[in-house]
Amino acid sequence: MTQAATKPRQPELKTTLPGPRSQDIMARDKMHLSTSYMRPYPFVPDHGEGVWLTDVDGNTMLDFFAGIAVSTTGHAHPHVVKAVQEQIGKFTHVCLTDYPQEITTSLAERLVKHVERPLADGSTEKWRVFFSNSGAEAVEAAVKLARNHTGRQHIISTMGSFHGRTYGAITLTGSKTKYKRGFGPLLPAVSHVPYPNPFRPPLGSTPETCGQAVIDHIEGLFVGILPADEVAAIIVEPMQGEGGYIVPPADFLPKLRQLCDKHGILLIYDEVQAGMGRTGKMFSYQHFGNGGQDCQPDIITSAKGIASGMPLGALLAKESVMTWPVGSHGSTYGGNPVAAAAAHATLDLLEGQVQHPGCGASLMENAAQVGAYIMAELKKMQAEFPFLGDVRGEGLFIGMEFVQPDGTPDGALRDRASMRMFEKGLLNLDCGEAVIRISPPLILTREDAETGLGIMREALAELAG
Ligand SMILES: Cc1ncc(COP(=O)(O)O)c(C=O)c1O
Repeated sequence: MTQAATKPRQPELKTTLPGPRSQDIMARDKMHLSTSYMRPYPFVPDHGEGVWLTDVDGNTMLDFFAGIAVSTTGHAHPHVVKAVQEQIGKFTHVCLTDYPQEITTSLAERLVKHVERPLADGSTEKWRVFFSNSGAEAVEAAVKLARNHTGRQHIISTMGSFHGRTYGAITLTGSKTKYKRGFGPLLPAVSHVPYPNPFRPPLGSTPETCGQAVIDHIEGLFVGILPADEVAAIIVEPMQGEGGYIVPPADFLPKLRQLCDKHGILLIYDEVQAGMGRTGKMFSYQHFGNGGQDCQPDIITSAKGIASGMPLGALLAKESVMTWPVGSHGSTYGGNPVAAAAAHATLDLLEGQVQHPGCGASLMENAAQVGAYIMAELKKMQAEFPFLGDVRGEGLFIGMEFVQPDGTPDGALRDRASMRMFEKGLLNLDCGEAVIRISPPLILTREDAETGLGIMREALAELAG
């Protein structure tokens, strides 16, 4: 007897959203938690399993946003759960600033293997790691290190960027004024330059020339406005996240590297959102310049997907750059051993030492394959729905941009599309002015991708009709 093919799992909505228990919690949440929290989607999670999240009323949704690109291995992955449970039974905290821990030493060794490269003299370029609790803290550390190492003050960042919510990080951020309004004065000596967005090329450029146009713009600043020898670092997201899931043209990062070398400026890649395997490579810059060899940064910031949701950030820097003196920087919790255990387990799955059923040799490989499938299907939808102006990305880092008939961004339509998808059981999240991001757990199978795409297509067809 042949076995019938199992039907792919579908979202299960038992109540209208939000259900009664969710409503109660949301009302209490509104009364007692900070007024700064946004609550765009009425969903109160109770438990998760893989790419599925169930709320306190028993509604099960397909997760296409992974808690903003964090839950790399999905929810409650048994390998991650076991690693965390084992570590928590050993010790939870003995401040890494003062005491070494094997679990963080070996984690640093594993992380730097993904960036260290052979040098012309036959040696290997060495890197070091500082551990924090979050992306913003890693960014703060990067700015402090860059200033401390170079003795220069100025930092250049990009428009549309997001680097976090601490004072240094919001100063660097260039995506929304609401992050800054009423909070000044911010960090001094920070400038912003356009990001080379091929769909909306800045500075009168074209999709092909926008990378060079931004480089020329920076060189122009150095002539008339900003002395290059006072610039400590340029910080850039190799693929821009909150700004709209934007992939720059292939020549941009190699040319930026050359510009930095010419002026003795450090190059910082903020890989907090696009890094840790999401794009199909460990770090997103490795899609450019000969596998990253021709656009190697000096400093990398990482967080989000690094530990499957346990709070951990990492600052990776070339050994020649990480020269700040003993005691000059630290953190009580940064490099917490439980978070580090989760990071080891996450890396096991990303690199393929441990395989996840149905996801090929490694989760990085799965991200590349399932991402390519989703992209191909979205291109088909784009041909069908003219309001889908652009679909772009790498691996499971995908953005779909909504446009008005004249090509300008259509944020209102994006909001309606996002909410319809949510109401049909697909957890998703907006970004940029008019973009929905697709950033699911990297354990997403092709079948689950089909389910999600089916929901998206239904929602888009309703908007079109
Ligand atoms: C590129 C980038 N950098 C930094 C951050 C800040 O990370 P965290 O929220 O962990 O502080 C984010 C968060 O979205 C991010 O996308």
